[in-house]
Amino acid sequence: MLSEPRARGVARVLIDEPTLQGRIGELAAELDAEYGSDAPLMVGVLNGAVAFMTDLMRAMTIPLEIDFMAVSSYGASTRSSGVVRILKDLSRDIEGRRVLVVEDIVDSGLTLQYLLDVLQRRNPADVAVVALLKKDKADAVPVRVDRVGFPIPDEFVVGYGLDYAGRYRNLPYVAVLDPAAIGEG
Ligand code: IMP
Repeated sequence: MLSEPRARGVARVLIDEPTLQGRIGELAAELDAEYGSDAPLMVGVLNGAVAFMTDLMRAMTIPLEIDFMAVSSYGASTRSSGVVRILKDLSRDIEGRRVLVVEDIVDSGLTLQYLLDVLQRRNPADVAVVALLKKDKADAVPVRVDRVGFPIPDEFVVGYGLDYAGRYRNLPYVAVLDPAAIGEG
């Protein structure tokens, strides 16, 4: 039985709230141990990483700073166009800083590949990536993801920051949409 109320259009809950929060606690402890007093700059990728970023940073206890970048998304499509644009850039210089990119989901890997390329050219001390979800996809580009919350099957998911056509980001769990809700049913 599902513990959460279902939102309209949701077919099934893939990762429930306690499971998400438990894993985030584990990731936070690992990151605390890795960075220690070497305060990282956590770079959240808008809009999808907002829920993960806010929970992850509050579960961490070390000194840290945050900033955000926004890159173009798929709009109302469920597939990647492979074309990435920066819609909002960082508000500070990252030269010499330890940067931790916080991503919602790695699908084709194209967005992350582009982002890492952009960040590396700014000469940070190092760049690491933590992604809440990573799709199990054979044809994904080989991109560096240091920590993954949950590997998931190659299905379109929403909730906990992830949207379909701008909606469902506020769900406290990760869910699979009813195909009828995305016009593919
Ligand atoms: P990639 O470039 O294909 O790896 O896709 C990365 C971005 O696409 C993510 O940051 C999400 O914003 C979006 N995305 C990929 N898969 C999904 C999904 O299943 N649901 C919602 N958004 C997704």
